Amino acid sequence: MQRNFNTFELPQDIQPSHIATNDEGLTIQWSENLHKSFYPWDFLESYLKSDKPTPEAVDINFFGVDGHEKAEMMYEKVLQEPKAIGRLTDLIRRNGFAFVTGVPTSSANATEKFLEQIAFIRQTHYGGFYDFVPDLALADTAYTNIALGAHTDTTYFTDPAGLQAFHLLSHVDTASERDSGAGLGGQSLLVDGFYAASLLKSEDPKAFEVLSQVRLPWHASGNKGITISPDKMYPVLEVDETTGRVHRLRWNNDDRGVVPFGSLYSPMEWYAAARKWNEILRRKSVEYWFQLKPGNVLIFDNWRVLHGRSAFTGVRRMCGGYINRDDFVSRWRNTNFPRAEILKRVIG
Ligand SMILES: [Fe+2]
Repeated sequence: MQRNFNTFELPQDIQPSHIATNDEGLTIQWSENLHKSFYPWDFLESYLKSDKPTPEAVDINFFGVDGHEKAEMMYEKVLQEPKAIGRLTDLIRRNGFAFVTGVPTSSANATEKFLEQIAFIRQTHYGGFYDFVPDLALADTAYTNIALGAHTDTTYFTDPAGLQAFHLLSHVDTASERDSGAGLGGQSLLVDGFYAASLLKSEDPKAFEVLSQVRLPWHASGNKGITISPDKMYPVLEVDETTGRVHRLRWNNDDRGVVPFGSLYSPMEWYAAARKWNEILRRKSVEYWFQLKPGNVLIFDNWRVLHGRSAFTGVRRMCGGYINRDDFVSRWRNTNFPRAEILKRVIG
């Protein structure tokens, strides 16, 4: 159906004689014998409405103590079905995490190749794809066997890691542990930061305000010759100005700098808010505990989901890596929507 260009408010100096319309859209001849532009009706309607939510609207499913019921996908499916990566990235986008089961454990190679199907693995000062056993020489708590409270990784980057993946390749006990009959431990923990933030907002609006307003320094300074900090200070909870909802959070006591004496709130007020936030993060109803098993790769959204673990004994061999947020979301778009829909989402 042909539409009338008068429906749209065009700049006044464009004369009707410069415009032609047909079923597909509107053509403007900008000047004699020079540039001609074609605008499809769909584009004009979408562009002129200008009511796109930013960031893209995604139905978020909160999780608590029980995790998510349908959070698994078989590795064989990911290999065989072209649409499986679309379903997997969509699961992570909505639920915050997913498991891929049946991944080979004989080497880390299969895990690496599989993660690269989502996007390339991010290089950091720790390297790219990793395959390690605990090693304190690396000067990061992740490389120890102590308990780790719920935190997000890479708070010190301007663009914190988007996805993180863990694969426990093996966990073997030592002779002394076998003799004593002690368990190996090493339960893993995930906490839905968006869910926790929604609880904070309803239970203590001032604490939510403080954690979303006070900007803090974050840093990585533990490795010789490496000092990383973001381009500016960021609050714990970053709230999207369009939706009013948290869209990224940073929480890691080991990476946080000094709480500043700001004009908005005092450090005392910040710590009071942090205490409330910490109390919510540690609630039984909020913590999702589970055991990582060889063959199961866990992938989660590091902008939303906090992770941790209990202490463990024995020797764990772990592999995994980070994937950039933008590359993950690009893969999600391109495996879930047709090209025309994607362009509408990203161009206008
Ligand atoms: Fe971590």
